[in-house]
Amino acid sequence: MKISVFGVGYVGLVTGACLADAGHEVMCMDIDPDKIARLQKGEVPIYEPGLDDVVTRNVAAGRLFFTTEPSKAVEFGVLQFIAVGTPPDEDGSADLQYVLNVARLVGQHMTSYKVLIDKSTVPVGTADKVRDAVAAVLAERFPSEADRPAFDVCSNPEFLKEGAAIEDFSKGARIVVGTGSERVRELMSECYAPYNRIRNKLMFMDVRAAELTKYAANSMLATKISFMNEVANLAERLDVDIEQVRQGIGSDPRIGYHFIYPGCGYGGSCFPKDVQALTRTASEVGYDAELLKAVEAVNLRQKQTLFTKLSNALDGDLKGRTIAVWGLSFKPETDDMRDAPSRVLMEALWKAGATVRGYDPVAEDECHRIYGQRDDLQLVDDRMDALKGADALVICTEWTEFRSVDFAAVKAALRFPVIVDGRNVFDPKAVKDAGLMYYGVGRADSL
Ligand code: UGA
Repeated sequence: MKISVFGVGYVGLVTGACLADAGHEVMCMDIDPDKIARLQKGEVPIYEPGLDDVVTRNVAAGRLFFTTEPSKAVEFGVLQFIAVGTPPDEDGSADLQYVLNVARLVGQHMTSYKVLIDKSTVPVGTADKVRDAVAAVLAERFPSEADRPAFDVCSNPEFLKEGAAIEDFSKGARIVVGTGSERVRELMSECYAPYNRIRNKLMFMDVRAAELTKYAANSMLATKISFMNEVANLAERLDVDIEQVRQGIGSDPRIGYHFIYPGCGYGGSCFPKDVQALTRTASEVGYDAELLKAVEAVNLRQKQTLFTKLSNALDGDLKGRTIAVWGLSFKPETDDMRDAPSRVLMEALWKAGATVRGYDPVAEDECHRIYGQRDDLQLVDDRMDALKGADALVICTEWTEFRSVDFAAVKAALRFPVIVDGRNVFDPKAVKDAGLMYYGVGRADSL
């Protein structure tokens, strides 16, 4: 099958590469000539485990192509995946200009039947707007209705997690397709057939239901996290260890163990943006989404707790201090720092006159890209180097390598024996036995 993908950001590139890997021929289009030139050489511009290999082998096999020319991409596939960005507006709603631009491009260049597929996370009602945008361009190009090529628009939200995208694409829980057309059903079934062999994961539903499913899924997960962070904050004040409570409630299959890890707040390009966008959508239809607002408010407050704990541990005196920060990305296995809790901490530290000595296995370049070179930001390649002469250590991301640490060496390197563990990575007893003070999230003596 021939497939076109618009946008080689995270979602577009993973989708294009995985569909090519499944045996389809895929043409990816993006307006950024640098990105396309790098991809044509097999260089992947984002960090995602396994993606390099999938891109390289499919480019080599002649199944995966990249172009900056819209006409080529529109002509190529019957399926036209729209995977461009939907950045938030100032008011939190998703900005659809890039999605609608692609719709117009398809309208301008199509000469035969096409299916436009909304893959980007877009608000309920976007498929209608995409349909209108294509129809308007076609009406201009072909004054007589009889001459206009037919098209359909469907919603096919993605549920990939950064850091596990390849696995999620091939082994995801479900493939949601919102459409009312039998022809689209058949084409989408053919497209996903290679990933739908063991059990039927395809769920066909109404277009608007598919659009809302995506927001509801992310908002539910964000709600679980904020709920757990709220209980963790309470546990600290009640002298209870949240880790015991987490296991206690997770054992109930109705609650489950997933996404109930307390920590320093959720980040990334999805949860913060999607919770805000759904809140905004609700207010547009006259509904005050109180729970969603609370989910966000709890998360914003949670991101500040690392600074508060650190400040309490160091008697409120942070001016002139150097703080070691382990983990800068919003979660492990990615260099993505969008809305990362580490950023709230670092910015608060700089405001208080402290220097950050940061270490992250992959996000160093990204951190410099965001903050540039500044005297109060030192990034090092070795986690122990971050500690030398630092006043305290804060963990912002639970990279696996942080799970094995020689606490005696940590104690020897730090000027003050303080660890703030924003992800509850460490066993408090092991830390305390080494003579360090331990501040976790929702654990005893962590306030
Ligand atoms: C999320 C969803 O999990 C994907 O299903 C969805 O496709 C994606 O958004 C999207 O809309 O594109 P992602 O943002 O990559 O994926 O990351 P997650 O693994 O969900 O983590 C999000 C944040 O929640 C991270 O900052 C993580 O540290 C935090 N988190 C996660 C917790 O604080 N506690 C938990 O128990 C789980």
